[in-house]
Amino acid sequence: MSTFIQEMRATDNRLLLRISIIAAVGGLLFGYDTGVISGALLYITADLKPSTFEAEAIVAVLLLGAMVGALGSGYLADRVSRKWTKVISGTVYVVGALGCALSVSTGMLIGFRFLLGLSVGTASFVSPLYISEVSPPRVRGGLVSFNQMAIVCGILLAYIVNFVFRDFPDQWRWMLGVAAIPGAVLAVGMLTVPHTPRWLTLVGREDEAREVLEELRSGDDKADPDQEMEDIKEANEQERSTTVRTLLEPRLRAALLVGIVLAVAQQFVGVNTVIYYAPTILSDTGLTNSAALASTMIVGVTNVVFTVVAVLLLDKVGRGALLLTGSVVLLVALVVLGIYFTSPTLQADYGWLALAGLVLFIAGFAIGLGPVFWLMISEIYPIGVRSKAMSVCTIVNWGANFLVAQTFLTLSGAISRQGVFFLYAGLAVLAIGFFIKWVPETKDKSLETLQEELTH
Ligand code: BGC
Repeated sequence: MSTFIQEMRATDNRLLLRISIIAAVGGLLFGYDTGVISGALLYITADLKPSTFEAEAIVAVLLLGAMVGALGSGYLADRVSRKWTKVISGTVYVVGALGCALSVSTGMLIGFRFLLGLSVGTASFVSPLYISEVSPPRVRGGLVSFNQMAIVCGILLAYIVNFVFRDFPDQWRWMLGVAAIPGAVLAVGMLTVPHTPRWLTLVGREDEAREVLEELRSGDDKADPDQEMEDIKEANEQERSTTVRTLLEPRLRAALLVGIVLAVAQQFVGVNTVIYYAPTILSDTGLTNSAALASTMIVGVTNVVFTVVAVLLLDKVGRGALLLTGSVVLLVALVVLGIYFTSPTLQADYGWLALAGLVLFIAGFAIGLGPVFWLMISEIYPIGVRSKAMSVCTIVNWGANFLVAQTFLTLSGAISRQGVFFLYAGLAVLAIGFFIKWVPETKDKSLETLQEELTH
């Protein structure tokens, strides 16, 4: 389990560690903002008195903004660089967070939540993209998954902030405003990191690319920056195209399909039903509100703990093994939850089973689909279309997130709560079948080798 740590020690490179952590702050914004709103909404409703439609819009407009942000930033990441796209994203985030905190009307709040969404959508994929392009292959899985780690820490932080500020005057303004701090850390921190050698080569700045690569690999005995630079140049010559249309070429179809199916599967197994509605699900099992909130923290902590496990294991056992194991675990958990809500006896005598099911579910997600989706879309596309392909997968992911979040309560009414869990379980079975047949193993291979293997 310690391979990742040993390998990181062997790369002896604080710079790599530091810049990966800074880039991953993008994930923190992502997690914080999706996690904070359910708690904050209680107080916003009492203060600004939005209609039901407006209250839903306050939550959902962020997801729409994220789709638009992901759409624009595929282009931006190629045009102005991964680094500057993230500086912009952090800055927009600060404005959005402060704007939300100071909103005097529902309309203003909805507008600023949309702005935040633009930034969250951008950060959600430019973070893994940046880290993937600076990492050596043997620790890339762990380093890129710092981003997922930051997402889940962001969610947990949001739960804690909601709890701490609950009795403050203007509490919801604090809850939303505090997020300006990580936004500023991202914007300023990204000013201190280098461009990725892959992007520099893409725009023809090879000398700079070589310098950055040498600095990034200094102290790493196993690295061969000259060879790596040659591979990057060659990969770049083969794939100069930067138009979206290239994505439709037959040789890229399989990779695009894998990215899109992973994006949809990540959401259609119902992860955000658990993240957004865990307190509701738990209080329906008879827990008091505060016991339900405390139990939700258990779910949040489990998510963090098992993401750490994934970071440590991804480069050792491989993406495929973790994806499959995690997906089978979450499938079992969904079936347990389905059975629990079907049986009045279980509900009466085994109340703890619901919490156990949610914890098992999130553990399975955290070692598999959670990190593997974001990691894999940063690995499987050739340089010429990498940012655009990631942007497409990210839009699909936020779109699927929106759909699931919007339909959970309605679906529960229509086909019952157990029906929804069985539905998610059925979708998980389909996803597992697809993973077995289609998802490639990317462990230990350079981005350039993957480009060669997957698209030719
Ligand atoms: C997903 C989010 C989810 C989070 C939970 C991320 O990988 O994209 O939608 O809320 O994981 O851990």
